[in-house]
Amino acid sequence: MPADSDLIDRISAAPDLGALEQLRVSALGKSGSITALLKSLGSMDPETRGAEAPKIHALREAVSTAIAQRKAALEAAELDRRLATERIDLSLPASETPSGTVHPVSQVMDELTEIFADLGFAVAEGPEIEDQWHNFTALNMDENHPARAMMDTFYCEPREPGEEPRVLRTHTSPVQIRTMQSTPPPLRIIAPGRVYRSDSDATHTPMFHQVEGLVIDKAIHMGHLKWTLETFLKAFFERDDVVLRMRPSYFPFTEPSAEVDVGWSMENGRRVVGGSEGWMEVLGSGMVHPRVIAACGLDPDEWQGFAFGTGVDRLAMLKYGMSDLRAFFDGDIRWLKHYGFRALDIPTLSAGVGA
Ligand code: PHE
Repeated sequence: MPADSDLIDRISAAPDLGALEQLRVSALGKSGSITALLKSLGSMDPETRGAEAPKIHALREAVSTAIAQRKAALEAAELDRRLATERIDLSLPASETPSGTVHPVSQVMDELTEIFADLGFAVAEGPEIEDQWHNFTALNMDENHPARAMMDTFYCEPREPGEEPRVLRTHTSPVQIRTMQSTPPPLRIIAPGRVYRSDSDATHTPMFHQVEGLVIDKAIHMGHLKWTLETFLKAFFERDDVVLRMRPSYFPFTEPSAEVDVGWSMENGRRVVGGSEGWMEVLGSGMVHPRVIAACGLDPDEWQGFAFGTGVDRLAMLKYGMSDLRAFFDGDIRWLKHYGFRALDIPTLSAGVGA
């Protein structure tokens, strides 16, 4: 009989599956050593066989077990090796230039989100098909308010007779209402999104994008509003010489109301934001009207705030130099190639939001 412990040692030390298989064949194969021992049982006298059979069977059992254990260990090691060497790092940048581009509207919305997140504003949303109460009434525009007629509203067919027609929201201001109704103050939100008005020329399209801002807290005043807008516009246009001018104005949902102009200057034959050669209007704003706060179930003596709204497409045109708004929605691949942004260029304040 071969030295069994020697065989078992060699099995446990087998360097790979091939060597292990050779050991298995040499012990348990047709002409293997243990197979030969089993065969030899037949030629033994009953007494010797009675004594030897249990030992030989135990030996075969021990060798089989050792082989199975070594096999499992070698296979596990092989799997570990493959997991380590065949790993695919999906976070690597694409090696080929991606062919799609990010639309300037999406890019600007990402930039706004980044800038306002840094100031502690969350992003809020509301439906594009809105009821008249949220779009008008709660914003201090009752049925006879002239502003309703001025908004060039798209009305939906009522879903059932007698239902008040819903509208395609004409501005993002209903998100102010929905946020005040759903979330207890203090609040700081921006609400970027699509809005709709029946209007179309080089600077108007029936669908366009706005961003709304809303702050509701205690002891908020117009100084907070002006600081916030100035900080936002400087970060957005990436210039320190952005100058604001606030003009008294009227919106039904703010009191007092101010239209915000930004100074521009000529650079390389193009009008750019910064300096003060002239003024252009960029934002509507004001202190949230106490009636609006009350319509949302809050006490206007306790809570005040400011709101502002502006066109996202227009901000994009001013920053990136497009002249025709309609091209934003043509889906022309050449325009998108020219004005679009690389998918991997995510705006961050540290890298520059317009990078
Ligand atoms: N909703 C207004 C508009 O569409 C803009 C605005 C928003 C004005 C918030 C003041 C405050 O013209």
